[in-house]
Amino acid sequence: MTSTLIRGRLLSFHRAPFAIDDSAAYAYETDGALLVENGVIVASGTYAAIKAGAADDVVEIDHRPHLIVPGFIDTHLHFPQMQVMASYAANLLEWLNTYTFPEECRFVETAHAERIASRFFDEMVRHGTTTAAAYCSVHKASVDAFFAEALRRDMRMIAGKVMMDRNAPQGLLDTPEMSYDETRAVIREWHGKGRNHVAITPRFAITSTPEQMDVARSLVHEFPDLHVQTHLSENRDEIAFTCELYPEAVDYTDVYARYGLLGPKSLFGHCIHLSEREADAMSETGSVAVFCPTSNLFLGSGLFPLRALNRRDKPVRTSVASDIGGGTSYSMLKTLDEAYKILQLQGERLNPFDSFFMMTRGNAEALSLVDKIGTLEAGTDADFIVLDMAATPAMALRAEVVTSLADELFLLQTMGDDRSIVETYVAGKPAKSALAAA
Ligand code: GUN
Ligand code: FE
Repeated sequence: MTSTLIRGRLLSFHRAPFAIDDSAAYAYETDGALLVENGVIVASGTYAAIKAGAADDVVEIDHRPHLIVPGFIDTHLHFPQMQVMASYAANLLEWLNTYTFPEECRFVETAHAERIASRFFDEMVRHGTTTAAAYCSVHKASVDAFFAEALRRDMRMIAGKVMMDRNAPQGLLDTPEMSYDETRAVIREWHGKGRNHVAITPRFAITSTPEQMDVARSLVHEFPDLHVQTHLSENRDEIAFTCELYPEAVDYTDVYARYGLLGPKSLFGHCIHLSEREADAMSETGSVAVFCPTSNLFLGSGLFPLRALNRRDKPVRTSVASDIGGGTSYSMLKTLDEAYKILQLQGERLNPFDSFFMMTRGNAEALSLVDKIGTLEAGTDADFIVLDMAATPAMALRAEVVTSLADELFLLQTMGDDRSIVETYVAGKPAKSALAAA
C-alpha cells in the first residue's frame, strides 16, 4: 500500500476557542506531519513520531514553512449562480427576479450544467474548499452534472435538486409530484455514491406551494438522515411576502416548523432577522443558522447577529458560508474577513482562531460530519490545505512583522484569497497543482 507523509506546520481544532489565548482549543505542531493512505489520514503528529512509525519507502512531501489546516467547508452556496455573481441589484427579490432566476433557467441544458459543474469544482479546489453544501437548479440534469463531477474528483459534497413550484419563471418550476419523484430519483442514484450526500432542498417558502411543502415533509419523514437546506429570514420584504403566503403561520420560522423541516440536519441560510421566538424554535430543534457575510453585505440584507445567537440561554447552532452567487467570493478566507467586519459593526469581536475553527471543525459540526471532515485527526478524510501567509508582495511585507500564530491567521484571513492556497489535498491527492498541470 502506498503511503504519503506530508510535512509542515499543522493546526487542527478540538473545540471552539473561548478567547484568542485559549490554546487548549486546538493542536498546533510546529514541525508536524500527516500520514495518508487510501484517502484517509492514518496518523497525525510530530514529524519525528510520524516518520518513525512510517514505512521505509514512504513518499515524503515537505511543505515547510507553510501551515497545513483541514480543507475549508462552505455550508451554503448555489453552483448555478457562478455567472450571477457581481450582478447589480438593489435587494434580494430584485436580484432573484432580474438575474438569478433567468440564469438558472439555462441549467435545463445538460451540456451547460456539465460545463459549469466542472468550473465550479475547479474554483472550490483553487480556493481550498473541499466540502460544500450546494443548491443545484430545479432541473434534475443540474444535479446529475454536479454529483457526477464530485464523484469524478472524489470530493465530499452535499447537494440537492431545488424544489420550487411558484413565483418564478415557467422554465424554473416543477410540481409537487415532480419534486417528489425527482428528489427520490436523485437520492437513489447519488446518495452514498463516492462521498456524495443528497440534501432535501426546497428553495424557500415563497417559491413553494403548501402542497410542495407537504412533499418536503414527506421526504424528510422517508429520509430522516438526509440534510435539509433552505433560506430563512434574509430580507424584510421576503419575510413580509412569506407571511402573506402562509397566513396561518405565526412567523417565517413557523412556516418551516409546520412542515416538519426544523431539525439537527437542517441548514437555514441567512437567519438575519429572527425574533426571540424563532431563535428559540431553532435552538430547541438543533437547527443550524447559516451566516453568509459577503452575500448579506452585497444584497444589503442586514448584519447577522452571531454573538446574540451564540450567547442566548438557548444557543442556536451556527455555520458560515459564501452563498455564491449572492456572495461575492469563493474564498472562505474572504468570507471570514467580511464576517469579522460584520461583527465589528455590532461592537463584537471575531478572533482569528474562532474564524479558522468556523471554516473547518465548526462547519463540520454544523453538518454533523466531524467524524469525517474538518480536523486533521487520524481516521478522517485526507482533505486538507497548505496556506502561505506571504503569497503576494503585500502579504509578504506584512508577514515580515508577524510574531505569532494568531497574527499569521489574521493576516491570512484579512489579506488572503486563493493565492494563499499553495495546495489543496482531496482524499490525499494534490488537486490544486493537478489543475494547473491539466
Ligand atoms: N432566497 C431564495 N433563493 C435564494 C438565492 O438563490 N440566494 C439568496 N441569497 N437567497 C435566496
Ligand atoms: Fe442562498
